[in-house]
Amino acid sequence: MKSEEILSKANEIKPWILEKRRKIHRHPELMYEEFETSKLVQETLTDLGIPFQKDIAITGVVGMIGDGNGPCIALRADMDALPIHEETEVDFKSEIDGKMHACGHDCHTAMLLGAARILKENEGLIKGTIKLIFQPAEEGGAGGKMMRDEGVLTNPDVQQIFGLHVAGQLPTGMLASREGTLLAAAGSLKIIVKGNGGHAAAPHNTIDPIITGSKIVVELQSIISRELNPLESGVISVTMMNGGDAWNVIPSTMELQGTIRSLTLDGLLTLQKRVKEVSESIAIANRCEAEVTFPGHDYPPTVNDVNCWELGKSVSEEILGKDKVIEMPPIMGGEDFAYYTQKIPGCFAFLGVSNPEIDAIYDVHHPMFKVDEEALPLGSAIHVNCALKSLSNLS
Ligand code: NI
Repeated sequence: MKSEEILSKANEIKPWILEKRRKIHRHPELMYEEFETSKLVQETLTDLGIPFQKDIAITGVVGMIGDGNGPCIALRADMDALPIHEETEVDFKSEIDGKMHACGHDCHTAMLLGAARILKENEGLIKGTIKLIFQPAEEGGAGGKMMRDEGVLTNPDVQQIFGLHVAGQLPTGMLASREGTLLAAAGSLKIIVKGNGGHAAAPHNTIDPIITGSKIVVELQSIISRELNPLESGVISVTMMNGGDAWNVIPSTMELQGTIRSLTLDGLLTLQKRVKEVSESIAIANRCEAEVTFPGHDYPPTVNDVNCWELGKSVSEEILGKDKVIEMPPIMGGEDFAYYTQKIPGCFAFLGVSNPEIDAIYDVHHPMFKVDEEALPLGSAIHVNCALKSLSNLS
């Protein structure tokens, strides 16, 4: 299939893709609760005549297109939303208070359904198998890991995997990625500082966890500035400080939370080790105790295979135009697509959805995040072109 033909087909079904996206957007669901979204995916695949497996990693769905022989590649979309209250004025705004598709996963799911429709209609051209992976819980729940552990990369074995993420800071019609490390290893941090509370007028009779916690917050910044090679990258951000309920009471405990990031898993482990040592030592020096944990999942870094990025770049240039595909530096965001590329070669790339003319100027995770939907058929077309070219290279 020629790229022009793929693009014109994607533009032809644009209303269908947008309808799916808007329906998902109205009903955002948080991690591992994507039951309605999963149902929509299953119903759509059924309508298209695409066989699928369901209930993988709770709500995950994997569709299969192709002749079942020869090479196998996968295209991946995530389905979960965020606990953010939507503040845009789009007429398909979230109908659920406090939940929003603020990371564009509604678009990812709709773009992959668009690709599924085009691929299924041209199944005769497919030499091999294309797996369509719709996964839950990208936002901190490591849904990608659970999908991987439940075997989505096997039977048949997937040789290459590709994923797209919308980017609120990149103009519509552009795509950006790179070879090698694209996104950081990322994890969360929690510190409970335990002291001994009492009357604020008699601090000498208390052990103040607020002062100790504050010292920990400040001192943790020196790990990055004094211990890390300036040519390497790391982030330690304390983003939550909670302690105390009254202005005249020194509380007994204070809680800190935040995130630690590095471009390598080793780097992340080193930072975690130092955060624990520094926090515990400061607490002891101040007669407190610090309980340091790293709850949740430590996402590995997302590393793009060089050949997969070369392919991703050329198939995207065919759809978008040569000057519309750019190389970007790594960023410290995290992505659970990393769990797939830990096992097999793959490529993750950012697709621009920003357009100041329609006020689509906010980045993902913002309550005003808005997508220029013109980008959606482009995403579907890139998926299709990528899947077909990748299979023909592998066969
Ligand atoms: Ni996301």
